[in-house]
Amino acid sequence: MLTIALSKGRIFDDALPLLAEANIVPIENQNKSRKLIIPTTQDDVRLLIVRATDVPTYVEHGAADLGIAGKDVLMEYGSLNLYEILDLRIAMCKLMTAGRIGHTKPKGRLRVATKFVKVAKRYYVEHGSQVDIMKLYGSMELAPLLGLADKIIDVVDTGNTLLANGLEPQDLVANISSYLIANKASMKMQYARIQALISTLRKAL
Ligand code: ATP
Ligand code: PRP
Repeated sequence: MLTIALSKGRIFDDALPLLAEANIVPIENQNKSRKLIIPTTQDDVRLLIVRATDVPTYVEHGAADLGIAGKDVLMEYGSLNLYEILDLRIAMCKLMTAGRIGHTKPKGRLRVATKFVKVAKRYYVEHGSQVDIMKLYGSMELAPLLGLADKIIDVVDTGNTLLANGLEPQDLVANISSYLIANKASMKMQYARIQALISTLRKAL
């Protein structure tokens, strides 16, 4: 059995046509089903529906052989114990700093709110800036508006969410897309199979 972990929503939707190229088609409509293990048209391939941030955990520990996860999630997870095997070029966006429109730098230490705490620490260390970083789990755009933080680091696509909340994108932290990732042992044990899948996906891209 080849088990592939991925999250509902944009990653699942964007991955479907790619998986279909490899004849992997979910038997149930995941938007209607409450099942978290979804069989596919291939008897020995199943999909696991997990939270986006949990995909690397399932793959690293071998609960899934493969996974599809955003580079933002992978950077934050920061493990060397899994392989990033293919950039699928789906769910593309940018990880950026953002702040209030027209707002200047504060005098004291910069306060940054983000769910990507490790990425943010690394980014500011590389830029030689001393900052206070606070972890939020969502609605990060509120933090600068309410004076909780000076900036946020979040994913930006159209920029509409920032704009709707009086914020502007500022500096690029990283370009993001989603990757096919693999468990190290699975890569050895199911080498031929996974390579065949990679090669089909590569052609489909
Ligand atoms: P969770 O549900 O666990 O909180 P999430 O809300 O980040 O995770 P999604 O919104 O489905 O989950 O995002 C999955 C991935 O898609 C992100 O890790 C990121 O790589 C990418 N992504 C996030 N927002 C956008 C966007 N607006 N446009 C394109 N890609 C995005
Ligand atoms: C994501 C992200 C931003 C938004 C950016 O939210 O958290 O808020 O997309 O996209 P934009 O630049 O095109 O506005 P999402 O739509 O995934 O909702 P979420 O808050 O549930 O993650």
